[in-house]
Amino acid sequence: LPGAEVLIVANREPYIHIRTGQKVTVQTPASGLVSALEPVMRACGGTWIAHGSGNADRETVDRNDKIAVPPQDPAYTLRRIWLTDEEQDGYYYGLANEGLWPLCHIAFVRPTFREEDWHAYEIVNERFADAVAQEARTEDPIVLVQDYHFALAPRMIRERLPRATIITFWHIPWPNAETFGICPWKERIIEGLLGSTILGFHTQFHCNNFFETVDRYVESRIDRERATVTLGGHETMVRPYPISIEWPPRALASQPPVETCRAEVRRDLGLPPDIKLAVGIERFDYTKGLLDRMKAVDALLTSTPSWKGHFVFVQVAAPTRSKLFAYSNLQNEAEALVEEINQRHGEGDYKPILLIVRHHEHDEVFKLFRAADLCIVSSLHDGMNLVAKEFVAARDDEQGVLVLSSFTGASREMSEALIVNPYHAQEMAQAIETALSMPAQEQRERIRVMRQQVQERNVYRWAGRMLLDAAQVRQRQRILDI
Ligand code: G6P
Repeated sequence: LPGAEVLIVANREPYIHIRTGQKVTVQTPASGLVSALEPVMRACGGTWIAHGSGNADRETVDRNDKIAVPPQDPAYTLRRIWLTDEEQDGYYYGLANEGLWPLCHIAFVRPTFREEDWHAYEIVNERFADAVAQEARTEDPIVLVQDYHFALAPRMIRERLPRATIITFWHIPWPNAETFGICPWKERIIEGLLGSTILGFHTQFHCNNFFETVDRYVESRIDRERATVTLGGHETMVRPYPISIEWPPRALASQPPVETCRAEVRRDLGLPPDIKLAVGIERFDYTKGLLDRMKAVDALLTSTPSWKGHFVFVQVAAPTRSKLFAYSNLQNEAEALVEEINQRHGEGDYKPILLIVRHHEHDEVFKLFRAADLCIVSSLHDGMNLVAKEFVAARDDEQGVLVLSSFTGASREMSEALIVNPYHAQEMAQAIETALSMPAQEQRERIRVMRQQVQERNVYRWAGRMLLDAAQVRQRQRILDI
């Protein structure tokens, strides 16, 4: 797409400026969306429009609310949108994270829908659509709309820029029609999304769920064979594009050898040098199955007490959306559970579970991955899960075992992982045991296949496939114009 202008609409910004006293630091958020899209933007340039969420964000932008990023090596523009507390409460915490997030993840947290949240969601979607129209220098830019925060934006952008190529990607699962029917504004959400030129999900399964939902609630023409939906004369292509990570990952370049990582991480955590280490790293989110994996560790130490003193599970959990009860409550529950399990199986200095609640930058995350014997990803439901892909990418020594929930999009691609049902503590305990005793050769064979898979299907391919499809649509449009 030579010469085409690229704009991203995403709630989360790739760089957050934070002031502590006199010092301003830059943080990169824990977000699958950001991990995937940031390298793409670095490669193709353009403008990323996002909510300015850091307390020093305002003082670091220019008069037009823009800043060139990455801060050390600028390659594209970040345009920040300021949201009032009311807008954030309604649009982000409310409709997006208490409504759509639990609705789309079948994690048994009841979705909450409030009229005032919906209004804030509409207003914020309008504000971002306005920003796209304001930032666009051409009449037919490529606009990449990201995630469940912006279901209405595609249609709004189409109204402002009829010739734009709008590629929308839904980073979370799309549930079945019955479940989606809970949402009081389902028709509006579907119609909003159908303003897109291309609508992408991680898997074919989610595309199928979307087709069924459209079929049930909106008067339109669905062509399953061509994978398109036509609404009011406008056609949207609905396709699976499994998201991935950059290859080679940037965070790998600065890593010391695996042996050094193993020694330093164990030393820093106050652990014996030869202890077996399992890690879990993610946002502190109820969809991630954190309690469930702790229960699996409990089950393992109960059934095989000989692991006591020889095995530790380190959970790094980044605080997230803590204003919501479901999140703050999870943190309390997790802390209580860790204490209970540590009391049951600990002895002297030995504690089987270490829970570290804080944000980690990519370099630290990769170091932990390299120090570990296994990584546990036990999401109860997850669109893709990039932690699984980052773990195998971090292991250029071809060692380490991945225990992976069958309810992640990633499990469909990474079948050499030990695939588990996170709801079944004994099954997960068995998988951890298998991982702990797996011979080096088998580890190598499994991880090699997964590494090759992630290398080939990296995030550039993800973006490339969408842009290629977009190029075809643009070409067709041009022919029609003649
Ligand atoms: C998921 C969502 C992303 C979001 C990320 C972090 O991966 O799909 O849109 O950015 O979680 O959550 P947060 O609410 O902190 O942006």
